[in-house]
Amino acid sequence: MADTLHDPLQRPLPDGIVPAEVVARTEKRWLTVMVTLLAVMMAIVVLMGVAGAVRPPSNVETIDPTTLHLGGEFAESNLGTAQEPDGSLTVRLVAGQYGFAPECTKVAVDTPVKFRLTSADVVHGFLLPSTNVNTMVVPGFIADVRTRFSRPGIYRMPCNEFCGAGHHGMWARVSVVPKDEFQPLKPTERTSCVQQ
Ligand code: CUA
Repeated sequence: MADTLHDPLQRPLPDGIVPAEVVARTEKRWLTVMVTLLAVMMAIVVLMGVAGAVRPPSNVETIDPTTLHLGGEFAESNLGTAQEPDGSLTVRLVAGQYGFAPECTKVAVDTPVKFRLTSADVVHGFLLPSTNVNTMVVPGFIADVRTRFSRPGIYRMPCNEFCGAGHHGMWARVSVVPKDEFQPLKPTERTSCVQQ
């Protein structure tokens, strides 16, 4: 006859040891919490993508980075802010070690603005704080991001992708001006923030 006190399965648990069924119950609760958290986070990603227009940089347009300056969309004369027939604005920028060209460009407030960027050398980043704009600028590809500025002011755009020794100094600006101030500007004045 087995002595129940010497059978380890029958022995009462010493103080401080949590019984198996309590552990199982706690684990199930944590699992529920984790699955709920995952579901909430996935829902936020989908919601922000649809309602907040925060999108991954999924635009796939290619361009030869070695001939940017020779002509085409990113030739020097095309850079900066251009007005489309529908009144929206398109800003074309070239990122390169260690600056954006042009360094400052003007846009109108409360107007749809599309930024089209490409890189002449390595991967750079393009971030406009307090807007939905944040994209990588990859040589060989055109990044296409859209936004609308609700307040006038100077928006600093730092390169947010490490691109070399001068990365920390790679900044440019967007100057958002009232609509009535923007309209009379000549094309060259829209692409520079120098006071005329
Ligand atoms: Cu360009 Cu960092």
